[in-house]
Amino acid sequence: MCGIVGYMGPQDGVPVVMDGLQKLEYRGYDSAGVATFQDGRITINRSVGKLRELEKKLFASELSGSPAIGHTRWATHGRPTEPNAHPHVYEGVVVVHNGIVENYIALREELAAAGHRFSSETDTEIISHLIARELARGLDFCQAVRAALNQVRGAFALGIMYEQEPEMLIAARKGSPLVVAHGSQQGEYYIASDIPALLAYSREVIFLDDDEMAVCSPAGMTIMTVADGREQQKEVHQIAWDPIMAEKGGYKHFMLKEIFEQPQAVSNTLLGRISEDRRKTDLQETGFTPADWRAVKKIMILACGTSWHAGLVGKFWLERLARIPTEIDIASEFRYRDPLVEEGTLLIGISQSGETADTLAALREGKDKGAKILSICNVMGSSISRQSDGVMYTYAGPEIGVASTKAFTTQLACLMLLALDMAAARKTMDDEEIAENVEALLKLPALLEKSLILAPRLEQIARTYHHASDYLFLARGLNYPIALEGALKLKEISYIHAEGYPAGEMKHGPIALIDENMPVVILAPHDHHYEKVVSNLQEVVARDGRVIAFTASTDKRLADLSHEVVKIEEPGEILNPLVYVIPLQLLAYYTAVFKGTDVDQPRNLAKSVTVE
Ligand code: G6P
Repeated sequence: MCGIVGYMGPQDGVPVVMDGLQKLEYRGYDSAGVATFQDGRITINRSVGKLRELEKKLFASELSGSPAIGHTRWATHGRPTEPNAHPHVYEGVVVVHNGIVENYIALREELAAAGHRFSSETDTEIISHLIARELARGLDFCQAVRAALNQVRGAFALGIMYEQEPEMLIAARKGSPLVVAHGSQQGEYYIASDIPALLAYSREVIFLDDDEMAVCSPAGMTIMTVADGREQQKEVHQIAWDPIMAEKGGYKHFMLKEIFEQPQAVSNTLLGRISEDRRKTDLQETGFTPADWRAVKKIMILACGTSWHAGLVGKFWLERLARIPTEIDIASEFRYRDPLVEEGTLLIGISQSGETADTLAALREGKDKGAKILSICNVMGSSISRQSDGVMYTYAGPEIGVASTKAFTTQLACLMLLALDMAAARKTMDDEEIAENVEALLKLPALLEKSLILAPRLEQIARTYHHASDYLFLARGLNYPIALEGALKLKEISYIHAEGYPAGEMKHGPIALIDENMPVVILAPHDHHYEKVVSNLQEVVARDGRVIAFTASTDKRLADLSHEVVKIEEPGEILNPLVYVIPLQLLAYYTAVFKGTDVDQPRNLAKSVTVE
């Protein structure tokens, strides 16, 4: 969702904030703004559109100063217009906000009745009015912020400045992520929605918890509860990510860079999780023991988007290898259906960001019903990881492209490790079978490299078919989620309508759509579904569909039956989803490039969805 950055200290805060916003632009990109103290007064610059529009304005206005706060917006309340862009100001109280004020209509009416006039349609502006009202009642800045926030229902991450307090910067959090850090100089502080914004300045961060606020002044940073102002002692976390990891490194887009990082990312994710003799897994870090795995009666996986697709593959592995009944639900559905969570249920939350509001809320719902939570997250210290009884981090490094790629394959690596660990504990596989699968996992990064070599071939196919208005993706079994993921990638970044379907289900509907204009991607690995998938492929050919087949490097049949064939070196049936997804990511990527869309920041989407 929206991105927030704040700076206070001896440097000019505007370039620091702009640099941070650039790193966070994936969180929202319909408008942006910055506020700072210039010549003793607060000055605000805002503009509609991408950050570069704001940059042009700042260049012209020569804005500089400290403290400074900035914001990049993903609209919820109010269209993406300049008056609705953040920062919002009322009587010298300046606010940037990520989240939603749920009781804003009631608050707005109350304030309007008391004579307040509003200059935007946003829920955020209410916060500056509430703080100003408390200041007018005689409270100091810090007390006024607390008093105001105690009237707000909903979620917020806030950066706040006040014209009468030019040496104070306040950050507050409830439900939306916020990290704070000390700079290298006395009285220097940073605040941000997400770690990449801070990497260039500090790798020692403090994660604010819900209902906490950080008050920065030249004397130091105090973290206290919003409710009653109690001072909190906070742990400082060391971040392993390198600032270079959040740069494009010569690639045209972050997405392409991240696709190509997958062999390394998967390798990092496996590192330290496999025994020295390479025969078994080692997941002690989760805090769950083999006895805990034996006690699990049922698993429920909760996730959204691409992470949900990883969960679909995970269900397959957990049932097949560890023989544990596994359900999977879209987080936003789970939380509102009063789900049955029986004793012995393990919830697995999957989330790249660890901040997706629906996943977080669904896990809380399950926890309240007595389940234990294991999460698979990419962002250390994220809300979901901190809500969990155990965490497996995917060591993908920062993922900036809005369309998820390396997070997906590393989530799959974690799920496979987990399924093997559980299978060993529950003795549903013998030691030899486990060792064979561990060996296959270790060989995976090399095979992912081979899938990447297919890039020029996918570019060629994308060139041929990028004018299509619809695409169908078909597969069976373990690769059906990969068909869903291929379709999702394509629609996310190229805006082509695409559907993923179980190949056997095609005859119950999508077959009606097939004609000579319809590219149909068919995943036909050499597994026990192969013959059936080939039959489905022939059904498409019989209706003049344009078949783009993905199959094993040894395949001899599909070249004659299909318009295009892409041959993939397979790791074996169980791990095929990881090597098959890469060419689909590349197909989506090149299609978007040919269509000239904004690959890294596709319209209407955001990387981290922290609202319902
Ligand atoms: C958004 C992103 C997707 C992502 C989904 C879930 O929709 O655009 O790429 O898969 O959220 O995010 P999470 O961080 O929970 O994995």
